[in-house]
Amino acid sequence: VSGAAGTASRPLVVGIGGTTRESSSSAAALAISLEGARRAGAEVLAVDGRKLAALGSYDPDQPVPLEGPRAEYVDLIRRADAVVIASPGYHGSVSGLVKNALDMLEDLRDDERPYLSGRAVGCIGTAYGWQAAVGTLAALRSIGHALRGWPTSLGVALNAAETHFAGDGTTDDPHALAQLELMGRQVVELANALTSLPAGGGTQV
Ligand SMILES: Cc1cc2nc3c(=O)[nH]c(=O)nc-3n(C[C@H](O)[C@H](O)[C@H](O)COP(=O)(O)O)c2cc1C
Repeated sequence: VSGAAGTASRPLVVGIGGTTRESSSSAAALAISLEGARRAGAEVLAVDGRKLAALGSYDPDQPVPLEGPRAEYVDLIRRADAVVIASPGYHGSVSGLVKNALDMLEDLRDDERPYLSGRAVGCIGTAYGWQAAVGTLAALRSIGHALRGWPTSLGVALNAAETHFAGDGTTDDPHALAQLELMGRQVVELANALTSLPAGGGTQV
């Protein structure tokens, strides 16, 4: 994972998610939302399904690593002003791949800004039906709160049976496109608002 950290004028928005599939719909949705964030003035980076798979399984007994893929991933989230999380609905909820990456944020427990404190969180759930899409979105928003982040007012649930994504990350669904771009913009607006608050948006319990 590479790229510059956000600056005061250009917040850093990190996308987490997608699957390891070549034409992953959740990865495409994430890319569209990140493009919305980029147009709203953010520096954007994505940690895609393949990179998430390379992190290995979270093991609470393992010491927090100082180098390697897990350390780089956690450090990127540490530097982020906001995150966008995109998961497919697997058996009704967040995929193990994405949940594993979110569990790894336990490594941020002792930080000055623990977990996702003071950060905006955009959430996207995709599935081959509305029930799992909406359930996955609700689960992601709940996890965002549990990690002390601030989910944006708009979250996006996508039914991949109705909304199609091309390999280049575009979609034939103008409504989905508009929602994803709007959420990307909201993430940047909320990140800017949180940064301007004392203590960076409530890092103390
Ligand atoms: C293991 C597995 C479990 C799934 N479970 C559900 C499910 O419970 N409900 C549903 O609507 N779709 C389910 N799906 C379909 C995916 O949610 C859907 O195809 C999604 O868009 C895949 O994301 P991707 O295109 O990013 O790989 C499942 C797919 C897989 C591979």
